[in-house]
Amino acid sequence: MAEKFHRATFTRNFLKTITRIKNPDEMLAEAKAEGLEKTLGVWDLIILGVGAIIGSGIFAVVGIAAAGSADGSIIGAGPGLIVSMVIAAVACIFSALCYSEFATMIPVAGGAYTYTFATLGEFAAWMVGWVLMLEYAIGFIAVACAWSNHFIQFLSGFEKVLPAWITNPPVWLVNDVFSVTKLVGDNPDIHVPMLFGMPVSINLPAIVIVLLMTMILVRGTRDSAKMAGLMVFIKLAVIALFVFAGIFFVKPENWTPFAPNGAAGIFAGAFLIFFAYIGFDALATAAEECKKPQKDLPVGIIGSLIVTTIVYVSVALVMTGLQDTSSTVPMAFLKAPMAYCMSVLNMNWAAGLISLGSLAGLTSVLLVLEMAATRILYAMSRDHFISQRFQKLHPKFKTPALLTWTVGLLAIVGILTLNLDVAAELCNYGTFTSFIIVCVAVLILRKTDPERPRPFKVPFSPVTPALGIIICGGLMVYKSMQPSGSALLFPVWLGLGAIIYLLYGFVRNRQNENRIHNEKVELKKQEMMK
Ligand code: ALA
Repeated sequence: MAEKFHRATFTRNFLKTITRIKNPDEMLAEAKAEGLEKTLGVWDLIILGVGAIIGSGIFAVVGIAAAGSADGSIIGAGPGLIVSMVIAAVACIFSALCYSEFATMIPVAGGAYTYTFATLGEFAAWMVGWVLMLEYAIGFIAVACAWSNHFIQFLSGFEKVLPAWITNPPVWLVNDVFSVTKLVGDNPDIHVPMLFGMPVSINLPAIVIVLLMTMILVRGTRDSAKMAGLMVFIKLAVIALFVFAGIFFVKPENWTPFAPNGAAGIFAGAFLIFFAYIGFDALATAAEECKKPQKDLPVGIIGSLIVTTIVYVSVALVMTGLQDTSSTVPMAFLKAPMAYCMSVLNMNWAAGLISLGSLAGLTSVLLVLEMAATRILYAMSRDHFISQRFQKLHPKFKTPALLTWTVGLLAIVGILTLNLDVAAELCNYGTFTSFIIVCVAVLILRKTDPERPRPFKVPFSPVTPALGIIICGGLMVYKSMQPSGSALLFPVWLGLGAIIYLLYGFVRNRQNENRIHNEKVELKKQEMMK
């Protein structure tokens, strides 16, 4: 009986502890006391948003979304891609509205992680932080490797002017270990150095770009926003070049049939192109660095989504008007569709500029993804989930320098060891989960804390958050039903997160609670002795 009682008490206490909610007022006070420098205005936010969003999605993935994959495993949307894009944008808008409500109510670093701590408690917050690492840190690694591919493709255009070792470098110097193994398997003549029976691979361009991004981020968020601004200008300029140069050569007959694979093709396209919208949520993680978060954040988040949707739909219209996407397309179109369309029109100069623009696009995505990863870890370190040493800011630049370097160096380890296809899919899983949690959290906080001032309110709640949950959940279930490595790895990642929490985060938080309790007792004793 006694044992039963103890077990019940233990379980009740344990559940109470892991669902401990952090009061939003406490979060705001902490941020005010030791927070990051406030430097971002509304334009910085829109630039960071567009910088985070427009990247490999529109420069590469869009080709497969329109025409299907070369092996036939993914069907294309055809010109109906514009409908896919609008579906993906709508899915994002619902979550973006929920992000805006939270970001203006609790403008502190950490995004979805912070909002979960305020609504679902300690354990759920840790799990969301852990899952967000899939979106931002693993996404960062995947985009760094995509950057490396684009860079090599860009260099190969200089065959006539640059030495061969630059335009056609050894495969092991510019690829990850999985790609090298596959390349050697397909073509045993390729020479690759071996170590312990394994092919050696150093994805040098990816490592160099990660180091560069880390250095820029350590120098400061304001400098990073300026650099993102330059990159955004370049990528928007080359996209405008594509749209305005291509529009005169559009053949309207290419727009029929509008949906060669029917609704299935359009939904497959929507799922794929969703990746192209990932990134707007990263803005919420920088809330603490906004000058006027209440006013500027919703405009920044929703504004950057609207700009992106207009850009994407224009590209899709011109691209599917230039290339017939209802029959088999060349491999070059699938890899870099915009550049391919320009070279078919004999505008090689424009194709070259587009390659350059895609590099700029990916660079700004990298910058924001790394920034978001560090800001979430910063908030997690404040909550004792990871070492407090990461709280230390750079004396001059006032950025979490040690944390930024740690993220950069861990990303390099990832570049050397991860399978990229799986990494990119895991990134999508992390994003869907965080979007769903934020929509759920808005509904919960409306019930548990209805009086809290909400400078921005999600219109038509609970319908809007519910639609966000249904659409993102539906896309996630759709993906889980396809056999893939990531569908198996995602639950493994979640399990690993739960174990780390129990062995480390839970223990550290209890130690911290004891310390605070002892300090209070000591203070009381001293007061009584006076
Ligand atoms: N939206 C980002 C991209 O397309 C992740 O690269």
